[in-house]
Amino acid sequence: MNQPLRLGIAGLGTVGASVLQLVQRRANDLAAGSGRAVRVTAVSARDRNRDRGVDLSPYAWFDDPVALAAANDVDCIVELIGGDEGPARATVETALKSGKHVVTANKALLAKHGLALARLAEGQRVALAFEASSAGGIPVVKTLREALAGNAVTRISGILNGTCNYILSRMELEGLTFDECLKDAQRLGFAEADPTFDVGGFDTAHKLSILTSLAFGVKIDAEAIHVEGISAITPLDLKMADELGYRIKLLGVAERTATGIEQRVHPTMAPKSSAIAQVMGVLNAVTIDADAVRAITLIGPGAGGDPTASAVLSDIADVARGQISAPFGKPVDQLDDAARAPMQRHEGGYYVRLTVVDRPGAMAKIATRMGDHQISLESILQKGKGQRGGDGATVPVILITHATSETAIRAALEEVQSEGVVTEPPQVIRIER
Ligand code: HSE
Repeated sequence: MNQPLRLGIAGLGTVGASVLQLVQRRANDLAAGSGRAVRVTAVSARDRNRDRGVDLSPYAWFDDPVALAAANDVDCIVELIGGDEGPARATVETALKSGKHVVTANKALLAKHGLALARLAEGQRVALAFEASSAGGIPVVKTLREALAGNAVTRISGILNGTCNYILSRMELEGLTFDECLKDAQRLGFAEADPTFDVGGFDTAHKLSILTSLAFGVKIDAEAIHVEGISAITPLDLKMADELGYRIKLLGVAERTATGIEQRVHPTMAPKSSAIAQVMGVLNAVTIDADAVRAITLIGPGAGGDPTASAVLSDIADVARGQISAPFGKPVDQLDDAARAPMQRHEGGYYVRLTVVDRPGAMAKIATRMGDHQISLESILQKGKGQRGGDGATVPVILITHATSETAIRAALEEVQSEGVVTEPPQVIRIER
């Protein structure tokens, strides 16, 4: 038998505690599959005394994760601290610089510093592995980097944040408020330490930036992503979506267009009959369109201790077997600089909810402005009688457009607002066919 692989776990939150248990549970198979024992020898976390439901006495304790990363008797650091700077970045950099392999679930760190860290790992000939960084338990990183090596990917899209999908699903099916659902997601350990990363769409954007690099062989460009979250979605939008035959999902989408790679994160109207609309709760889903395989969809738990630990273990198994690939599929210097496709050029259908002043001619003005920008309407829905508010009676009006451009819809709605026929900013949700 070869020398054992000695793991140091930095960060013992929900995922860290699950990793400790899973390494113990899978110890025999990991050893059989790699020809060497795999064991945790040291751990580090902020609070030594917190009850995590696991016995920490077999492991050396480090208050400082960076000291753990520099320790001599550890071969591989599993970074589960989180955050794009501070202790997480210092731990990963120290580990790589001292010639240790790194397994991480840290999407924020990779979105910001992934290329520099990959360069460091390549220089040191060690692993920088991050299956757990995107879509939790779904093995999408390896699918893109290894299983689809024979394909040119044209589009990748999916539900990449379990917390948002959980919130939208429960709001729709159980009529609960946004806040109630968010609290449950936090209690169940899905949400980020700061849940605005989830509901603001930033967590999805971090994951999308990593998947875009793997899918298209380009350098990570998280700043190119157009990001909108779910906090403006109202129960009325969910009800309207249901009546119109859609479900609202927060999607991350990256696709090659004539002008470059378009990357966007926003709430989306998905037809109820589509595969993505069936994906409920904390589940994630990723659809990959490619030239040879055509299209595949992977569905699975996108967050939570054990599913994420499952992805971490797959990387640990690779490290134990000595399988070390270029983190982003190609050496960093061979990744392309992708041209950014501006969001204004995006084309598609739109759901628009307007709060319209209930008086003769208001709808005519709206229709005229839409027509002025060549926007063709598929349907118009006026809901209920006027509600008396501060500015007089208003009614919600829903417009569904045929395919148009982002520029046209934004310009038309700006003009509608300046006509004084709406009392609130329009709600705009893109439709994905
Ligand atoms: N907060 C994330 C989610 C955890 O809800 O999907 C997994 O990255």
